[in-house]
Amino acid sequence: MNKLVSIAIDGPSGAGKSSLARRCAAAFGILYVDTGAIYRTVGLAAFRRGLDRKNEAAVAAMLPELEIRMAYNGEGEQRMFLNGEDVSAAIRRPEISLCASDVSALPAVRAFLLEMQQKMAREHSVIMDGRDIGTVVLPRAELKIFLTASPEARARRRMLELEAKGTPVSFEETLQAIEQRDAQDRGRAVAPLKPAEDAVLVDTSDIGFEESFQLLCGLIRDRLGLEPAEGKPCGS
Ligand code: DC
Repeated sequence: MNKLVSIAIDGPSGAGKSSLARRCAAAFGILYVDTGAIYRTVGLAAFRRGLDRKNEAAVAAMLPELEIRMAYNGEGEQRMFLNGEDVSAAIRRPEISLCASDVSALPAVRAFLLEMQQKMAREHSVIMDGRDIGTVVLPRAELKIFLTASPEARARRRMLELEAKGTPVSFEETLQAIEQRDAQDRGRAVAPLKPAEDAVLVDTSDIGFEESFQLLCGLIRDRLGLEPAEGKPCGS
């Protein structure tokens, strides 16, 4: 049996983690785990209950009522279920982003979700993206990548994404939301967003998606000795 491998990709929101991780996972035939989606599911539950999301006792009291499940369809797309309901679309709403960031600062929430994430890596080869994967969740990952980009570059990308979805927002508003979430995710006491000491830093401010993808493919090949799955080349 082949040895399982873990690849950790951490970084701030909008640096391109999820699209790059998804594409790398498809190229190398590894499972992609989006841990932000799990925090978003808890954030959505707190939002729906109208809880003060910074009140640890209130949020912790809700946790035993939550049954959170991840499932994958044939294309390897991750769906999130909250007490049996498919909430994959609901957790993407912009107002849920800050809810997720709020609840993710609470130690009780992080402890509640830690085992679920580590179990995935015990059972599958994974490319897992988040904020603390290389530092806390999978400190022994074979490859750790810290993906970043300037706040302006990330705001521009997010703006174009939302525009394409037909929900345009201003650059200033987007930049402000990104800076607010960065400050919260970096400044929290538990598992703050920061590169692991042995992470490879990749700044995508001035490079496009394809170039970033090639760079990550190269790292996976060189560091792990993996080759892309048949029919899923890394490209040129
Ligand atoms: O990656 P994302 O934007 O979907 O994540 C939503 C929030 O969840 C993010 O602001 C911080 C939190 N998060 C976290 O604290 N740790 C993770 N491993 C993943 C996400």
